[in-house]
Amino acid sequence: MAAYEYETHDYDVVVVGAGGSGLRATLGMAEQGLRTACVTKVFPTRSHTVAAQGGIAASLGNMGPDHWQWHMYDTVKGSDWLGDVDAMEYLSREAPQAVYELEHYGVPFSRTEDGRIYQRPFGGHTTEFGEGPPVQRTAAAADRTGHAILHTLYGQSLKQKAEFFIEYFAIDLLMGDDGRCEGVLCWKLDDGTLHVFSAKMVVLATGGYGRAYFSATSAHTCTGDGGGMIARAGLPLQDMEFVQFHPTGIYGSGCLITEGARGEGGYLTNSEGERFMERYAPTYKDLASRDVVSRCMTVEIREGRGVGPNKDHIHLHLNHLPPETLAERLPGISESARIFAGVDVTKEPIPVLPTVHYNMGGIPTNYWGEVLNPTEDDPDRVAPGLMAVGEAGCASVHGANRLGSNSLIDLVVFGRAAAIRAGKVVDRDAPVPTPKKAAIEKALDRFDSIRHAKGGTPTAELRLEMQKTMQEDAAVFRTEETLAKGLERMNSIAGKLDDLSVTDRSLIWNSDLMETLELTNLMPNALATIAGAEARKESRGAHAHEDHPDRDDENWRVHTLARVNGKVELDYRPVHLNPLMGHNEGGIDLERIKPKARVY
Ligand code: FUM
Repeated sequence: MAAYEYETHDYDVVVVGAGGSGLRATLGMAEQGLRTACVTKVFPTRSHTVAAQGGIAASLGNMGPDHWQWHMYDTVKGSDWLGDVDAMEYLSREAPQAVYELEHYGVPFSRTEDGRIYQRPFGGHTTEFGEGPPVQRTAAAADRTGHAILHTLYGQSLKQKAEFFIEYFAIDLLMGDDGRCEGVLCWKLDDGTLHVFSAKMVVLATGGYGRAYFSATSAHTCTGDGGGMIARAGLPLQDMEFVQFHPTGIYGSGCLITEGARGEGGYLTNSEGERFMERYAPTYKDLASRDVVSRCMTVEIREGRGVGPNKDHIHLHLNHLPPETLAERLPGISESARIFAGVDVTKEPIPVLPTVHYNMGGIPTNYWGEVLNPTEDDPDRVAPGLMAVGEAGCASVHGANRLGSNSLIDLVVFGRAAAIRAGKVVDRDAPVPTPKKAAIEKALDRFDSIRHAKGGTPTAELRLEMQKTMQEDAAVFRTEETLAKGLERMNSIAGKLDDLSVTDRSLIWNSDLMETLELTNLMPNALATIAGAEARKESRGAHAHEDHPDRDDENWRVHTLARVNGKVELDYRPVHLNPLMGHNEGGIDLERIKPKARVY
């Protein structure tokens, strides 16, 4: 047994992660008087939400007619009929209130002439149940919406006396014998101390795992830490095969150019100067859903119509837009284009390429954020003491493909929902559970064995091998061959975790150790992704399988469950098909959201 001392901390709730969902959950918990700690590996306002640009979807109707049911319809269609209907209804119905709450907390939204929150068009957001023109539904603070939200929520959480443990890395969940989560073991990066946080509720808000891929818009911190901890706790991950490629990552660096750029009138062209999206999506063109646009761009490149000396990317034009619009609405991406592509957006197009951006899959939850540990008899069984929100979770509102700007609204709606639920299920008077010694020792042993790993494979080398494999074999388009090869390669890469070498044994600011722990989190996420993709014999949303090009609702309208323990065990659970509210109570008419061909 590894001999480490640790400090103990007791809370009603411990939130792991301080991005948009973590902070919204923390704030909501603290507002209700729950003793709440937020543990985060980076300073809260450096969390990846800070990079969210274009905006947050809600049917405020500030720029023209809109309705939550139109938003729900678009989300259902965007998900390619894999999302859970109850969660999608909850998201779209609660969205306006959640955005007004943000406004009242102080988020500095851009404004219309008459002072209302400004909203822009985004891909896949329409009117009249997909029959009408695009809607302006995405509320924005210029192109720095995530930045504005994050700073506001952090300030509000401090005001509510939530306690922050900053630059603490969560190593493992501490699970009780009855499957209840009783806390989390953390490592304080700046002084090397270890900490056991005991809690009645642990909320995982650890973000996505974009860094399992070589080129991603995600920050280097997006290493799927929550998914890694869940896998080690023997719990499943859900729908991991659905990985979103954002159409407009800057060619080379992968930095995000917001879809808001196309919302403000930008468009894509190929080497012939053709606005090719008109051919593929005659109605919504460049504002089709992002999986569709990414595939069309990839086809253009494959067929020899890419731009540049190697014909391997596409042009995004903003140079026809008034410079004042660019300065007012898109200042951030104008700067990114200058720094990362050397482009003056008022004069030249930006070179772009579909780039990994978002994980639709994650830790399965209900729409209250409670983590699920499904059985055959009870596919909605709740794992006690554990919640997951934001990109780490899978409620599932995004199904097989997320609409742009539905991520920020997911963060705040479900962060808030988790707090509402915790307010009901956490007994303030009950004692905080004491995590089992055996659970703490197991987590410490794993930490210690990684710290002293003496194998022959440097972390950076194995990480790169994983990233390149995922990029090549779990890409925009997939085939039986690439997926089978990818699965084999990933199994062999994961096998090398036992041969890792960590050269720095210290405990203070040891980035070698931290990156190795992160790699042990990325790996189960990546394995679940490729295994789920290999098994799914259809095309749906972001999973474009060339040997099975059609969606197969009869056999595959199911959520994939992946338990990863060295190897991946797959299982499936039903999609929720029932809304929360009946049609005669003001809810959606189910006829409206019946599966059909997904065309834009
Ligand atoms: O394009 C963007 O601004 C990204 C938004 C999103 O992923 O929701």
